[in-house]
Amino acid sequence: MTPTPIHIVVLAAGQGTRMKSSLPKVLHRVSGGSLLDRVLRTARSLSPETLTIVVGHGADAVRSHLSGQDDVQFALQQPQLGTAHALLQTAPLLSGRTGTLVLLSGDVPLLTTTTLHGLVTAHCGAGAAATVVTATVERPFGYGRIVRVDGDVARIVEERDASPAERQIREINSGIYAFDMAPLFEALGGIASQNAQGEYYLTDLVAIYRRRKLPVKSFGVDDAQEVRGVNSRPELAEVSRLVRQQKNEELMASGVTLVDPAATYIDPDVEIGPDTVIHPGVIIEGRTRVGAACEIQAYVRIADTEIGDNVTVKSFSFITGARIDTGASVGPFAHLRPETIVGEGAKIGNFVELKKTTLGAHSKASHLSYLGDATIGTDVNVGAGTITCNYDGKHKHKTVIEDGAFIGSDSQLIAPVRVGKGAYVAAGSSITEDVPPGALGIARGRQAVVDGWVERKKQSTAEKTTTSRKDAGKPAH
Ligand code: UD1
Ligand code: CA
Repeated sequence: MTPTPIHIVVLAAGQGTRMKSSLPKVLHRVSGGSLLDRVLRTARSLSPETLTIVVGHGADAVRSHLSGQDDVQFALQQPQLGTAHALLQTAPLLSGRTGTLVLLSGDVPLLTTTTLHGLVTAHCGAGAAATVVTATVERPFGYGRIVRVDGDVARIVEERDASPAERQIREINSGIYAFDMAPLFEALGGIASQNAQGEYYLTDLVAIYRRRKLPVKSFGVDDAQEVRGVNSRPELAEVSRLVRQQKNEELMASGVTLVDPAATYIDPDVEIGPDTVIHPGVIIEGRTRVGAACEIQAYVRIADTEIGDNVTVKSFSFITGARIDTGASVGPFAHLRPETIVGEGAKIGNFVELKKTTLGAHSKASHLSYLGDATIGTDVNVGAGTITCNYDGKHKHKTVIEDGAFIGSDSQLIAPVRVGKGAYVAAGSSITEDVPPGALGIARGRQAVVDGWVERKKQSTAEKTTTSRKDAGKPAH
């Protein structure tokens, strides 16, 4: 339900001094993306007519972070003189527009879409000129306080400007508001900067509206965590923890076992099927999908990967941009790089690296191998220490191993090369030419056996030692 057009402004120009960072605060990452990414995702749920971000400190970095997101427009605030001044910078882009302006803060990342929709509905329903999202918290330190007179919001006072009595108020300003656009920009121009920070405070608008008898309402959130602002690294860590906790709770509710949720790091967009067991220290990132009844052992990191059902990923494996089909087993200590496909029931063992490689169903590479730019059929056995030599210093070349082939241990396949269906490569071979189907490829130095060699060697060594002992007794010249 959107009774009026919605325009969203996100404030993201502040330096974030307390982060002590060269990166703009809103680009710091919480689980799954930057603070700003999360805020924008929530913002878009309102299907706004316009979406404007006020940038200033680190403006270029913020702009390039969002390049390609064409629904976003930028207003530059330079210098940064406070939140009212920040919002005023959007006037050239938004003047003449009517409807509701929803103001979000780039550093308040936990706000839910439910709250945001509730705010707009309440604001429009009450016909308010401004609606402030508030929360009642145990420790209000650092936030602006909501000062009420006869139950109505009369003013907002910042921590630094508050009297000792006002500091006792536990209802805080979240920094999130809905405004009727009609009186807004003209009123913003009337805000002064006589306060502890010498800044133009948006919060002063509340008192101004009250004097003008324009209705100001509040919209309280039940869960104060939602409106937590991130101003420092400990707060960033805490918000990340809350995001992960929520994701973990959703996963457990849907039937996933997390052996130790506090030590499990799963991004918000990850999907995991029921009866999958995730052990401690596991990191699953990006757009990863894990099927049902899988086991992901301790200290595995998986990003942007598609995993079928009944897959086992053993400890200390790193997997990115890959696909692992049903019933396959990977690791321990495996490295699957982008564009790798591990077929159904296939097995990748320890210290095996795959890149741009397809391993067919029920094939195995169990130990110590590098397989790059390779297409490997079904039921192939890749012996320990097999290396595809795919790079000649300039170009990458392809290796093809057809169904049922057997590659003996410690072989090098010097690409481009093809090993035919059912063919064998003898252990220790350097294969430079195609091996036809059903053939044996053997390419290694022939072994020579020298009988009695050890005994002869011993004798000649003994003779040399006796001579040199005699030499040692002679005077030096
Ligand atoms: C602000 C509110 C405070 C509220 C708190 C909630 C004011 C004066 N105070 O305080 O009442 O409890 O948020 O988190 O509004 N920004 C700009 N340009 C500026 C200054 C800030 O874009 O010139 C942006 C920041 O990047 C940030 C947001 O506005 O995203 C809030 O600014 P911040 O300095 O963090 O305000 P607080 O002190 O947290
Ligand atoms: Ca803040």
